[in-house]
Amino acid sequence: MCGIVAYVGPKDAAPILLEGLQRLEYRGYDSAGLAVVNSRSLKTRKVKGRVADLASVVPARFKGTLGIGHTRWATHGVPSDVNAHPHLDIEERIAVVHNGIIENADELRSRLETDGAVFSSETDTEVLAHLIGRTVKETDSLEEAVRKALNSVVGTYGIAVVDAQRPGEIVVARNGSPIVLGIGEKEMFAASDVAALIRYTRQVVHLEDGELAVLKADGFHTFTSDARETAKEPFTVDWDAGHYDNGGYEHYLLKEISEQPDTVARTLRGRIDDRFHIAHLGGLNMDARETRSFRRVKIIGCGSAYYSGQIGAQLIEELARIPADAEPASEFRYRSPVVEPDTLYVAISQSGETYDTLAAVQELKRKGGRVLGIVNTVGSAIARECDGGVYLHAGPEVSVASTKAFTSTAVAFALLALHLGRVRDMSPADGRRICEGLRRLPEQIKEILTMEEQIRALAIKYAEAPGMMFVGRVRGYPVAREGAQKLKEISYVHAEAYPASELKHGPLALISADLPTVAVVPDDELLDKNLTTLGEIRARHGRILMVGHRTADAADDCVVVPKNENELDPILLTIPLQLFAYHAAVALGRDVDKPRNLAKSVTVE
Ligand code: AGP
Repeated sequence: MCGIVAYVGPKDAAPILLEGLQRLEYRGYDSAGLAVVNSRSLKTRKVKGRVADLASVVPARFKGTLGIGHTRWATHGVPSDVNAHPHLDIEERIAVVHNGIIENADELRSRLETDGAVFSSETDTEVLAHLIGRTVKETDSLEEAVRKALNSVVGTYGIAVVDAQRPGEIVVARNGSPIVLGIGEKEMFAASDVAALIRYTRQVVHLEDGELAVLKADGFHTFTSDARETAKEPFTVDWDAGHYDNGGYEHYLLKEISEQPDTVARTLRGRIDDRFHIAHLGGLNMDARETRSFRRVKIIGCGSAYYSGQIGAQLIEELARIPADAEPASEFRYRSPVVEPDTLYVAISQSGETYDTLAAVQELKRKGGRVLGIVNTVGSAIARECDGGVYLHAGPEVSVASTKAFTSTAVAFALLALHLGRVRDMSPADGRRICEGLRRLPEQIKEILTMEEQIRALAIKYAEAPGMMFVGRVRGYPVAREGAQKLKEISYVHAEAYPASELKHGPLALISADLPTVAVVPDDELLDKNLTTLGEIRARHGRILMVGHRTADAADDCVVVPKNENELDPILLTIPLQLFAYHAAVALGRDVDKPRNLAKSVTVE
């Protein structure tokens, strides 16, 4: 998704902006640009293509100690040099970079055109540049001009604005699209993601929706859209630049898959109490009485976060015996959900910035719902919006496809289920069983990672299939869904996931020698049922790759993973499917870390 970087300080801005934009590449984009202010004039460069293409058109001497940069992911208008940001007003005094969507852009554009404005791009952002350009002449204050212009805008935005006539300040604003300020030594940064500024500072401030900030080299101040000053406390990000390196791996995705013994251990660290066999989750902000009062759990998230929520719902029902279900946040927010006081809502997000999930949380809060967040990014919008929650501590996830955040979320749910269960009727013996199972996970993940060569060979064998079916029953079903999601998003092979029990109610018609099936078959009480399903597929000449805890005659190939407790097995069964998707994508020559059409965090509707 689009990315923003801004800098004001004593150094030349362009190299810092380019470096920051490179750090945002993982989010997905199609064009890039920057503007710097020098001698009271704007210098801009923008191109369709990669940040490296932009760097090649920025001259070595591109002086200016204040500037803004952008990576664009097209919404209004095709990817092109002209549509790339920054956009300027008619006098080329104001430059704007923008993430988000201005919903009333057409109406504003017609009004501005009637007043004589001439537009050079198809973007909604250019409307902002013209609006601010007009207002700044009336107010002679950039912060006032931006504030007033934004008051006539409907939509979502994270923006950074510079005025050639004010070479010492940048104005940024947020509404639905993240903006984070970075505080340096006599220099200030702003970005849409801490990744862009982490090399320069770890002291950050997150803007809230409806908040603006003026950045100068020696500091910043923040205020609301109705001009009230706000007070912000900086906090220190506990990730550093090293977390964003690929660590010598060919792809971030493989690095992130391989990190999972550590990331799972970090999610667990300090949270298991062996004396009472309970989980310590300090961030929930709920006492035992309140924890007991919930009669339902509703989990929301998007994409893979939603599938990990399905694993979570299963864990909570099984371990805590509280009815639980998961739903895509992107659907939930639009269906005017009934919000009940005795339901605990749990929102999941790796980035903490997914707009659909954030909007769903805001809707829940507006209706008085109690919302916990299971979030990876500390201080992110969703984390701030929730009443409490569990941080994953999985470190930054750079590859567009989620892997380590998925497993850490499932682990966080196991802890939450243990916690909810042990304040209710879960026995100490069951508590101990789950605690011990959780402790075994990192070593078992290591063991699965040693099977990479076998899985790679299987991925190469199956990668040429025109499509694949993924099936699983109950605990295995979310694993199958996530396996299909990984395969389709990074290899572009069509993959469809079904509950194994549903196969004979329709999709069995698809099964033939041309459509292989990945079957998730844990050794649990449903093993026999699953083996019967394999037989049914086999009888239709379907090829089967089984992922489970044993081999089976009906399967052509088997990946046998270590067994844990039944409830925790889905976490381990996911890992071979990540490796399978990764190696299929590599075999097919795909852009593994930045699959086409996708963005790392979806901050638009
Ligand atoms: C995962 O592989 C996907 N790229 C995507 O489904 C992702 O999980 C989803 O967009 C939610 O993102 P979030 O966890 O940052 O909210």
